[in-house]
Amino acid sequence: MGKFIIEKSSPLRGRIKISGAKNSVLPILAATILTDKSCDINEVPFLKDVETMLELLNSLGAEIIKNKDSVIVSCNKISNKELPYDLVKKIRASFLIAGPVLARFGIVRIQMPGGCPIGVRPVDLHLKGFSLMGAKIKQEHGVIEISTKGLKGADIYLDFPSVGATENIMMAAVMAKGVTNISNCAVEPEIVDLAQFLNQMGAKITGAGSDNIKIIGTDILNGCKHTIIPDRIEAGTYMIAAGITKGDIIMQNVIPEHLKPVTAKLKEMNVMTEETSDGIRVYCGGNLKNVDVKTMPFPGFPTDMQAQFMSLMTVSKGTGIVNETVFENRFMHVGELNRMGADIKLESNSAIVTGVKKTMGTKVKATDLRAGAALIISALAAEGETEISDIYHIERGYYKIEEKLSKIGANIKKIED
Ligand code: UD1
Repeated sequence: MGKFIIEKSSPLRGRIKISGAKNSVLPILAATILTDKSCDINEVPFLKDVETMLELLNSLGAEIIKNKDSVIVSCNKISNKELPYDLVKKIRASFLIAGPVLARFGIVRIQMPGGCPIGVRPVDLHLKGFSLMGAKIKQEHGVIEISTKGLKGADIYLDFPSVGATENIMMAAVMAKGVTNISNCAVEPEIVDLAQFLNQMGAKITGAGSDNIKIIGTDILNGCKHTIIPDRIEAGTYMIAAGITKGDIIMQNVIPEHLKPVTAKLKEMNVMTEETSDGIRVYCGGNLKNVDVKTMPFPGFPTDMQAQFMSLMTVSKGTGIVNETVFENRFMHVGELNRMGADIKLESNSAIVTGVKKTMGTKVKATDLRAGAALIISALAAEGETEISDIYHIERGYYKIEEKLSKIGANIKKIED
């Protein structure tokens, strides 16, 4: 396990290339199970969660050829073995394998997934969808068995627009008999990317990106070539890093539309953005000032940006309130930020952040992926040295973060302990 040592940094300057989206590549890798032909996936960030998903596919018998930033997956020889728990518990996205295996083999046995400790994170909505499509569900000793003699299209209403449930149900439905409608479904850009991938395989999906997706079942899916969309959360994290250091950077490989919920809030705080010929420029438009922010499903402000945004708020003038509505336990970074001198008070699912003139480096711990990113951001502006431990959380979701930040002038190094 390594640590990051970070010193207060001068304003970040330069260009930074954003990697493919972690939350797109994970379901898309799971979807390769749906065909016995090869799938060629480009702009793959080989970060820890992606490696875990590849190991999960490998444990089923998939052949995987990795290149610099692409992967060819071939699931022609896979079988529906029970997935190894030591891999399943590492990432919540492991549960996304359930839909494709069920569609291809008619039965799947899988343990309750793991992932970041940010809430209870049940899978009831995934199971509700499978069950409405005619699957039988048994749960014994932590293992869920889902089986069917043949999935049938169904009308499925999600009580909450869950990203994972929308993806899992979509993947199960592409080869079901008849038509499936998922309403009140998630509309995140990663849903659209998965639908595009599935359609390139021969699926018939319409409406992805709206709150109602229609899937007409088809008998067989083929291999295809696909490029993963840029990671909007990675991009948002570097935008905030630029803002807190009063820097001026250009982010390449971004889709401005996907970043709107974040760029709009940053503008209110005086962190400005403008589209350039090769990406988005981020720069400081004046003194940072505090705002209120409420996390919501897309196109609302992303819960995955909440912790990093809070870091920026800790050194912005005035008081702002962060209201977390998506996960029930996503304030673990608050204690660590306060140890660095921030002034944050918690009241149930809200955090009241009063900006301070300066924060100070100390020893802190990454408690989950985005909380870890928030600590890096704070460390860039804090006086003195910050030592961040448990950085494996950060490496689950950020590709070569220390290299990318160093390249634009951050004073960050990784040490092994
Ligand atoms: C995905 C993202 C994660 C992001 C989250 C919300 C991936 C790999 N991860 O996670 O980074 O933070 O979307 O944008 O794409 N819920 C239920 N029952 C269910 C499913 C979800 O109650 O069956 C609840 C969850 O507990 C949570 C909320 O719905 O409170 C949102 O979860 P969901 O959208 O499913 O997130 P994930 O797909 O797990």
